[in-house]
Amino acid sequence: MGKGFPEDFRWGAATAAYQIEGGYDADGKGESIWDRFSRTPGKIARGETGDRACEHYFRYRHDVALMRQLGLSAYRFSVSWPRVLPTGKGRVNRAGLDFYSRLVDALLASGIEPFLTLYHWDLPQALQDLGGWPSRSVAGWFADYAHAVGRALGDRVRFWMTLNEPQVFAVMGHLTGEKAPGMADFVAYTAASHHVNLAHGLGVQALRDACVQAEIGIAMSILPAHPWGDDATDREAAHRFDGFFHRWYLDPVLRGSYPEDTREILADFPAPVEPDDLRQIRQPLDFLGVNVYSRLFVRDHPEFLPLRVELLTERRLPDAKYTAMGWEVYPDALREVLLRLHRDYALPALYVTENGAAFAERVEGGEVRDVDRIAFLHDYLSAAHDALEQGVPLRGYFVWSLLDNLEWEHGYDKRFGLIRVEYETQERTVKQSGHWYRGVIERNGL
Ligand code: FCB
Repeated sequence: MGKGFPEDFRWGAATAAYQIEGGYDADGKGESIWDRFSRTPGKIARGETGDRACEHYFRYRHDVALMRQLGLSAYRFSVSWPRVLPTGKGRVNRAGLDFYSRLVDALLASGIEPFLTLYHWDLPQALQDLGGWPSRSVAGWFADYAHAVGRALGDRVRFWMTLNEPQVFAVMGHLTGEKAPGMADFVAYTAASHHVNLAHGLGVQALRDACVQAEIGIAMSILPAHPWGDDATDREAAHRFDGFFHRWYLDPVLRGSYPEDTREILADFPAPVEPDDLRQIRQPLDFLGVNVYSRLFVRDHPEFLPLRVELLTERRLPDAKYTAMGWEVYPDALREVLLRLHRDYALPALYVTENGAAFAERVEGGEVRDVDRIAFLHDYLSAAHDALEQGVPLRGYFVWSLLDNLEWEHGYDKRFGLIRVEYETQERTVKQSGHWYRGVIERNGL
């Protein structure tokens, strides 16, 4: 049976500035925390950096032509804050802003709807030097940045996202330290988490002010947290993890409150919430974006404080498949997450803003036969379709990623693209999955 999608369904692919642009100091761009982090020995595999990446900053016209070849109706990209504001605030760097203006024009001329993310993890280093996300001032500076970009592009960009995966950069940047700025401190973390939420709220208000037509959302990372055992202790552990990693970000943004259970767990490191903050954070949204890749098994662990959970990321189920990231291929994640969000939060529209996989792959005779990726995308899309049929207002789907790119601390060897990038020559090759996706888009379904 074929699975058709709604007529106005948007088919896209996603990228992020630091992962593809290169041109790390071109045309007056300032340093970002990822520029700094990638130069810090030991932080990124093989010492790789985003200095060149896919040189998208210089090759964007060609990349838009490739998007057109794939038949995309939408493209999700992020704006580099230090390209627009080299020191994070104050003087706008016209040349940096103009790049995005040209990109947007090229997309629109190709009939591709831009979906713009304001922050995909590349904080200006100058703001890190002033305290970064643990410092409250960053939320206000983010709003000023949002306003500047909104004013410049709001006449042409209709779809906006404030932040990409707030919980991922808050946790992994400030508590576990694998990502920039590489901090590992509970007090810094809870402060950062609240200021990130506040930045979202202030950013939405700034965007509403700068561009009246905007449809505004945020892209959250959500993964089903499944209890490892079927006893109550593991179920409760999964719930605690869900509160810490998901509801701590969903609830303030969508309900105007922090979840009570997580608040209690974090009682020794209380978030610096000031009166009126939650009202500022909860702004009406036009859509919620969700990035979904896999699921996670969780179990109770009395000694791992304060959460008392253990994440079983190394466990391998005998019959399951795993991606090059070590993530379980679990298509039903998409159905579960979409239904859960639809059930728990009143959402006008949902988009899958990222979904995809890295697999080991080779070029043979000029072709990339990435059958694993095709099977992955097919099965996840099929699960998304089930959610649609069960009433979820799903409006679009974005493959992560358009191009192979820098997978943060893992470097370049984790290839997620529909298009292969040969980093030495910058040659692009549409993979078999790219051709397959084009067919899905043409048929508007599976
Ligand atoms: C997500 C990030 C994205 C990419 C994918 C694989 O968490 O938003 O930039 O790295 O994972």
